[in-house]
Amino acid sequence: MTEQSPALDNLLTESRTFPPSEAFSAQANATADFYAEADADREAFWAKQAERLHWETKWSQVLDWTNAPVAKWFVGGKLNVAYNCVDRHVDSGHGDQVAIHWVGEPGDSRDITYAQLKDDVSRAANALESLGLEAGDRVAIQMPMVPEAIVAMLACARIGVLHSVVFGGFSPTALRSRVDDQAARIVITTDGQYRRGKAAPMKVNVDEALEGAESVEKVIVVRRTGEEVPITEGRDIWWHELVDGQSAEHTPQAFDSEHPLFILYTSGTTGKPKGILHTSGGYLTQAAYTHHNVFDHKAGEDVYWCTADIGWITGHTYIVYGPLANRTTQVVYEGTPNTPHEGRHWEIVQQHKVSIYYTAPTLIRTFMKWGNEIPQKYDLSSLRVLGSVGEPINPEAWIWYRENIGANSAPIVDTWWQTETGGIMISPLPGVTATKPGSAQKALPGISAKVVDDQGVEVGKGGGGYLVLDKPWPGMLRGIWGDEQRFRETYWSRFADQGFYFAGDGAKYDADGDVWLLGRVDDVMNVSGHRISTTEVESALVSHPTVAEAAVVGATDPTTGQGIVAFVILRGNAVDGGDEAVQELRNHVAKEIGPIAKPRQILVVQELPKTRSGKIMRRLLRDVAENRQVGDVTTLADSSVMDLISSGLKSGK
Ligand code: WTA
Repeated sequence: MTEQSPALDNLLTESRTFPPSEAFSAQANATADFYAEADADREAFWAKQAERLHWETKWSQVLDWTNAPVAKWFVGGKLNVAYNCVDRHVDSGHGDQVAIHWVGEPGDSRDITYAQLKDDVSRAANALESLGLEAGDRVAIQMPMVPEAIVAMLACARIGVLHSVVFGGFSPTALRSRVDDQAARIVITTDGQYRRGKAAPMKVNVDEALEGAESVEKVIVVRRTGEEVPITEGRDIWWHELVDGQSAEHTPQAFDSEHPLFILYTSGTTGKPKGILHTSGGYLTQAAYTHHNVFDHKAGEDVYWCTADIGWITGHTYIVYGPLANRTTQVVYEGTPNTPHEGRHWEIVQQHKVSIYYTAPTLIRTFMKWGNEIPQKYDLSSLRVLGSVGEPINPEAWIWYRENIGANSAPIVDTWWQTETGGIMISPLPGVTATKPGSAQKALPGISAKVVDDQGVEVGKGGGGYLVLDKPWPGMLRGIWGDEQRFRETYWSRFADQGFYFAGDGAKYDADGDVWLLGRVDDVMNVSGHRISTTEVESALVSHPTVAEAAVVGATDPTTGQGIVAFVILRGNAVDGGDEAVQELRNHVAKEIGPIAKPRQILVVQELPKTRSGKIMRRLLRDVAENRQVGDVTTLADSSVMDLISSGLKSGK
């Protein structure tokens, strides 16, 4: 069963509940009868949600599951995703409404209305078409949080081209493997990016990544920091030279509901990232439905802010597609939360009167560390809904969030979902659910989730096991790019008899039957809400000439949720594992994958604990990394190994 880390145990003793206020419930988008309505006829419920969108041609069938596990939603329907996110709000008379209050890290800002966004997206779509891009082609985007990143994504969507956004912090090697995997024809980037008050290069990393990349024809460069960048003649084009002169008229074409919308790479249990494929109609339906109900969003009234980066799924669904489909006015912030000071987020909330704020537990814990007095300096009274995503939120952080940011009244929605699910799956509904600190509680109306045991049998109240999704949902992934076998194996083989989707998370029901998420049960770590596979970091380590073998574990970390701890055996000829060698290895991992994968700690050891079949027992290493009594060693091939590791560490060897 689940190897639970002790820090999660306290989740299960938490018993406080916070019922919604009458005033909130009276105005809430969601009502309690949604659950019964969806249970009575799931497909009719989802068809009703799809009516939020503009369909050029209506679907003839809501769900076709005959080719499971590849679903078809809204079969025969046709729509244009970008039209739905932009043009139709202008057509309905809201062109002057601000879509994006963009806040640059150095203090510059831009307000972009829906009418302007429509012009920008149309110009960019014309530009991409002028380069010969056609529906079905792939464009990779590695950019910081500038408006052009969102414009680029929507321009791709508008012409039926798949975008694949690669987080700005990923290394050239990581970018390259993603570009190659999807055979991207175009890469869009910026000259540089602002990070903690300084301009850092971006384009030069892209250049390094693309050396010899055969699929890439053009690199489009947005000017952001103004630093000088090398330009490869014939390949590189400035965004402003390509886009600004284009016509602001572009007729959106309707695409099939199942037309692919994007690929987003995420870590799996092997070293190679998986290109998660999402399509159009079902994905957008779930994005819009969840954003409307989970955040209680009111178009034209709320100011919404999701602090994610567009390099992650949260940025895709809850910055770009969901909010824009719902005609949201939102804040998009470019920089880090403590630049130039630790009150930056609250200053922005105060300035723009943000009413819905969606962030990650790791940031909440960081705010706690910085001190209560920081948010107290600002007027946060505009906030009325708070969200959390990315990892289990511990009750302490939940309560702190409620008291210090939500004035003890704003409902907190702890939203569980994944890159693969496309949108939120398990969450309280504000105005409906009495919330519990640390629990995501209930599958949303229209969604079905269960906690099951090893055999796939649902556990009872108070029981724990694996989280599965037992019925198809509109935003579900349609595959792994170019690897159908892996798609079936990863998600659908564990409970093949039952046909359940295996999420990879451990979970538990409490006495009321509410769901508590307990973290990953596979070799995926969750560091500051980012998924990183242990194997990926291990491969990076062993690619260094001094390393013979490596084992990586995620150890509980008070701020980042988990921290990466690596155990390495050095090669015989390597110099001793002193500080310098360890530092070199940490940097090597950052170079191979990106700074987010840098191990918190690297321990040089003589041996690794292995079973007789040669499998590394990470559980034991986690005990060491978390300074715990080492657990049961009876399945080890050589049970003295753990003594050797522990004593070696104590003597500093
Ligand atoms: C974890 C992020 C507990 C979980 C949207 C999942 C959570 C993985 C929560 C997906 C939550 C996400 N409570 N755990 N509210 N939200 N997770 O693909 O382990 O980056 O499997 O998607 O994050 O991470 P991903």
